[in-house]
Amino acid sequence: MRIGILQYRPRYLDREGNLDTVEGLLKSAPALDLLVLPELFASGYFFRRREDLERVAEPIPEGPTTEAVLRWARQLNAVIVAGLPERTGEHFYNSALIASPTGVVDVYRKAHLFYEEKRYFSPGPGPLRVYDLGRFRLGVMICYDWRFPECARTLALKGAEVIAHPSNLVRPEAQEAIRIRALENRLFIATANRWGEESNGKEVLRFTGHSQVVDPNGERILFTEPQATGLFCVDIDPALAREKRITAWNDLFLDRRPDLYEL
Ligand code: ACM
Repeated sequence: MRIGILQYRPRYLDREGNLDTVEGLLKSAPALDLLVLPELFASGYFFRRREDLERVAEPIPEGPTTEAVLRWARQLNAVIVAGLPERTGEHFYNSALIASPTGVVDVYRKAHLFYEEKRYFSPGPGPLRVYDLGRFRLGVMICYDWRFPECARTLALKGAEVIAHPSNLVRPEAQEAIRIRALENRLFIATANRWGEESNGKEVLRFTGHSQVVDPNGERILFTEPQATGLFCVDIDPALAREKRITAWNDLFLDRRPDLYEL
């Protein structure tokens, strides 16, 4: 199967402009099974005030970002995982839409909120789900979720072979550490990260680019430049993530000792 990662520099609050940019970047896309877009890919990230978030947050599936992603999923005949600010009756969530050519598969709401996200968003209530999409079994994390080994572990134990990971990473250690999440769970992690910088008026955040796809051995099989813009693709065999045996004597999951992990 083929995974595509889209990396670019979104413009703060310019949802329509950003959707046009992504549409242009997808024009010459090759055949894909899974496309991952960054966290909050069309809205911007570092909100200056609640009203800014209110301007770009949208209900799912009615909003313009969802509409565009569903259209791209049909055009590309691919599953797309894309980050967007979701508005429900009472809450804002930092969400990832999981879209297939036939419609919305699900919405994952970020469980672990980073920094000033806590001012505006509610933490996702879970559960962490795995989707059997025929060719592969998909789990989803959003950016800072990587920092919690339990998150990737839970998805792995539920059968995920590929974790799609929409991101707006700012910490320099993240991409390296994410390789360990893949290694310790023997699965693929596809991180779509944005680049550029944003200010909340007091402080500037710089997004690190360097999107990557990591294999079940923790090796990078795709790694983009920090300020690259484009669609980057790699072929993978998800069956590699089904094999949890690491020596003739060891199986990563069967060797676990949950009896010792009880708190
Ligand atoms: C992050 O969670 N956007 C760093």
